Amino acid sequence: MQNKRIHINRELQVTADGSHTLFIPEMDEHYHSVNGAIQESRHIFIEAGLHQSNKEDITVLEIGFGTGLNAFLTLLEAESLPIRIHYYSIELYPLSLDVVQTLNYGELICSEKKDLFFALHEAPWDQSVRITNSFELHKIQGDSNRCDLPNPIDLVYFDAFAPDKQPEMWNQEIFNRLYANMSEGGILTTYCAKGVVRRMMKEAGYTVERIPGPPGKREMLRALKL
Ligand SMILES: C[S@@+](CC[C@H](N)C(=O)[O-])C[C@H]1O[C@@H](n2cnc3c(N)ncnc32)[C@H](O)[C@@H]1O
Repeated sequence: MQNKRIHINRELQVTADGSHTLFIPEMDEHYHSVNGAIQESRHIFIEAGLHQSNKEDITVLEIGFGTGLNAFLTLLEAESLPIRIHYYSIELYPLSLDVVQTLNYGELICSEKKDLFFALHEAPWDQSVRITNSFELHKIQGDSNRCDLPNPIDLVYFDAFAPDKQPEMWNQEIFNRLYANMSEGGILTTYCAKGVVRRMMKEAGYTVERIPGPPGKREMLRALKL
């Protein structure tokens, strides 16, 4: 599904750790935690997700490519750990390169590799692109509720807008489909800790843990396919 022409008003904001996020006034929703975007992303997706996998070849699926922050942090991990990443990410409303140019992630996280942050955004959609020796990217432009999912998936970064802002993203069917497409030992992490989401994950078959969230958030969820 192509929605390239939809215009969404997004404001650039600085979060508590100095890193940027985007804010959508019409939704009253941020792309990341205002308590620190980089800090949040590292905590939820890298430490509670990627670092818990014991595989060397890891297929990641992200719901919501957005600013590419999670993808960039994952790429940098793949540079420093003995792992190879196949990174799929679904996004219905890609950012324009003009907006991407304003984000400070490349500079703040690893200025000598900031070109790789832009390479993630410049990569064409709907095809696999090798970004580094250890990181292959496949961005899918479409609706996560409708598009085909990769199979098998080892790790899911579920990074949709909050359930009260975009409830259609959090439904039983998507968790069932993710579970069906995940490898044994697969891990799904999300910042969300809501009971209704936890119950949907359990219903899908996951074993779900509530674990400490990043600063400003008491808990988050991690779901395992055992
Ligand atoms: C919380 S933000 C994602 C943050 C992103 N992971 C990052 O690090 O910037 C949620 C993202 O989901 C995207 N999105 C909204 N509806 C979607 C849909 N139906 N399918 C896929 N992505 C969607 C939004 O455009 C937004 O980029």
